[in-house]
Amino acid sequence: MIETITRIPVANYSNLKERAGYSIKIADKEIALFKQSNGKVYALENRSPHPKGGVLSEGLVSGLYVYCPLYDWKISLADGKVQAPDQGQVQTFQVEIKDDIVFIVL
Ligand code: FES
Repeated sequence: MIETITRIPVANYSNLKERAGYSIKIADKEIALFKQSNGKVYALENRSPHPKGGVLSEGLVSGLYVYCPLYDWKISLADGKVQAPDQGQVQTFQVEIKDDIVFIVL
């Protein structure tokens, strides 16, 4: 079976502010987009794995992590893992940047 890869343009790179979160909807997926201070862009499912399901794009970004706005769980932007002592993981999405366009790869 051949897997189809879809690149969806979601933003202009130069418009993204560092350490700000953006909420993007692709079909039924809500994705949080973050540009880190080193210029890298990360995309994660826009829900904390905590039962309260906080919106991660409203969280605080510090270094390689986003802190959930509700209960402050610390979640890795790179792999979506919740840091100890809490547990869980959110889905991450591959990001590509070409000619100032940010793409989510699905
Ligand atoms: S909703 Fe509880 S840590 Fe995010």
